[in-house]
Amino acid sequence: MTDLLLAIVHHLIVFGLAAVLAAELALMRSSTMSPQTVKLLGRFDFFYGMLAMAILVVGFVRVWYGAKGPDFYLHNHAFWAKIAAFAVVGLISIKPTMRILAWQKSLKANAAFVPTLPEIAKLRRWLLIELHVFALIPVFAAMMARGVGYGAG
Ligand code: HEM
Repeated sequence: MTDLLLAIVHHLIVFGLAAVLAAELALMRSSTMSPQTVKLLGRFDFFYGMLAMAILVVGFVRVWYGAKGPDFYLHNHAFWAKIAAFAVVGLISIKPTMRILAWQKSLKANAAFVPTLPEIAKLRRWLLIELHVFALIPVFAAMMARGVGYGAG
């Protein structure tokens, strides 16, 4: 039962992360950027941070308290590849998050604030890279769940 509940929560958070990332990408467009969009990006990025922390906690709770037990994952290269991909996504997300936070400050000082076109284009590229690395995580997840890569480490 614990395993099932953890799996359900894990999947819901994963879909939440994917949805928020896709929403940020859709909003990060120079042609449609407005002060309201900047505000929305701030909100979405906050949710993204919360969900990322939640998946980290739920993920490691699954490792320790899931049906298969920690040894199944900790000796599997696919598990570590998944964690590495998750860490890379986290590192890539630092830049957009810092800029989105700075935009919220600028918006407080000037209600008509919108970022410059080159900056939006640059952050859009970061988000696209982030999304592609993010897509690797379920690939490694499916491998590790089936023991592909087990016993190699
Ligand atoms: C540090 C973060 C994470 C940890 C420690 C973690 C850990 C786990 C564990 C223990 C399982 C159970 C696998 C099994 O049934 O044996 C699992 C499944 C899964 N995880 Fe994660 N996870 C994390 C983050 C993520 C993220 C960010 C995603 C998606 C982008 C994700 C996608 C999945 C998927 C799709 C499954 C189901 C795999 C399958 O049954 O085929 N996980 N994860």
